[in-house]
Amino acid sequence: MFSLPTLVSLLLLAVPNAVLATPCVSFDADFNLLAFGFDGKDWNAGQQDSWTSGSATDITASGRPPFDGNSTTCYLAQFFNAVYFINADKANPSNVHIYDAGAKSWSTQSVNAGTFDVFDFDTILDHDTNVFYAVSHNEVFFLDMGNLKTANATALNWNDALAAPFPADYKPIMGLAQNHVHFLNVPDIPAGSADIFVIHFSLFQPAPQAYPLSDGSAIPNTHGLTASFFQSEGVQQEFAFIPDDGSLTYVINVETNTTKTIAGPTTKDANAQYAASITALVQLDSTGALSFIPYKQGDDSANGAATWSAISKVAAVAPPASSGASGSSASAGASGTASGSASKATGSAGSKSGTATGAAAATGTDGANGALTNAVSFGAVAGAVMALFAALQ
Ligand SMILES: *[C@@H]1O[C@H](CO)[C@@H](O)[C@H](O)[C@H]1NC(C)=O
Ligand SMILES: *[C@@H]1O[C@H](CO)[C@@H](O)[C@H](O)[C@H]1NC(C)=O
Ligand SMILES: *[C@@H]1O[C@H](CO)[C@@H](O)[C@H](O)[C@H]1NC(C)=O
Repeated sequence: MFSLPTLVSLLLLAVPNAVLATPCVSFDADFNLLAFGFDGKDWNAGQQDSWTSGSATDITASGRPPFDGNSTTCYLAQFFNAVYFINADKANPSNVHIYDAGAKSWSTQSVNAGTFDVFDFDTILDHDTNVFYAVSHNEVFFLDMGNLKTANATALNWNDALAAPFPADYKPIMGLAQNHVHFLNVPDIPAGSADIFVIHFSLFQPAPQAYPLSDGSAIPNTHGLTASFFQSEGVQQEFAFIPDDGSLTYVINVETNTTKTIAGPTTKDANAQYAASITALVQLDSTGALSFIPYKQGDDSANGAATWSAISKVAAVAPPASSGASGSSASAGASGTASGSASKATGSAGSKSGTATGAAAATGTDGANGALTNAVSFGAVAGAVMALFAALQ
């Protein structure tokens, strides 16, 4: 039995690890799993077939952020083999940190937040335009990352593009696919439907889009998190939605407008973080533990039978915080091994106001990493988007 002072000391030892470290998980363009800010270091866990054995490679390099931010999130820019980090430095929360996965080097991009609330938003990085689209306090913002693999000396800006059409208390859940941002759990639309923001036209589609399950049921209206599955080429077509209760994982396909289910994560954790590759969905839970479920687009029987497994390759070098912080078997000497805990940006949207006028319907999705590509060239799309934004302002 521990005496009370002993327990308190153990908890105090555990707290700094849990509070200070906010790791983030993403991929490089070859879909090596990258785990940042674990135990004060960054790790490359290689490709999916190697995640359940061996030890991840230490890729910690100079110029990295402190990973002490409130709710660090990270995003693969697939065209550029770069990972962008938001809120990885508590002292400079509007900075975007850039990891060039090819060069294995870091740089820090200065960003003027303007009226964008870096502590209260949800965002996706659009695949084709390499532009972040975010909703914060019910305004749609964008941040154009251009072709950056290395920070530019010139500061970038979060630009307020237009008002979002949501009720004031809506907390945005954004899922990205086909250059559309899908907003889930919008209070005034039917369960299982999404409001859609069409990136290339900077418009909200006037009517929600339904994504029914094959048995006719619908994704419940509830809070959760998303991650977009990448494609080997082109924009995302599917994104995962994991409700906060973790009971199931829903995969929304925006080509067929249908939803399939796969197993919910083993660890039910509303504060987890998710990242997807082409063939896996990865969970980073709030203790810093990583797990994954394999996924193959279109293979319903394999996906239905798939189960979650621990990514032991990262745990081998950076064990989750819970193993060091749980008091029952810990001794004071064991406290040094705890790794960081995850945190996730919370976003909530603000007041309701009108949406863009003009052209036809857009469907919107919002979500995690990634967006879809299409046949239009990158430059043309980016130019058109910017012109539209200019016209709207
Ligand atoms: C961190 O985030 C929480 C939840 O959004 C917020 O209440 C808190 O004020 C934030 N802390 C800092 C230092 O910004
Ligand atoms: C850096 O910023 C300047 C000024 O905005 C711009 O002209 C230049 O193209 C940028 N460089 C890159 C690599 O994006
Ligand atoms: C799926 O939904 C999108 C967005 O509303 C729509 O443009 C498209 O036509 C739909 N596709 C099918 C196959 O129903």
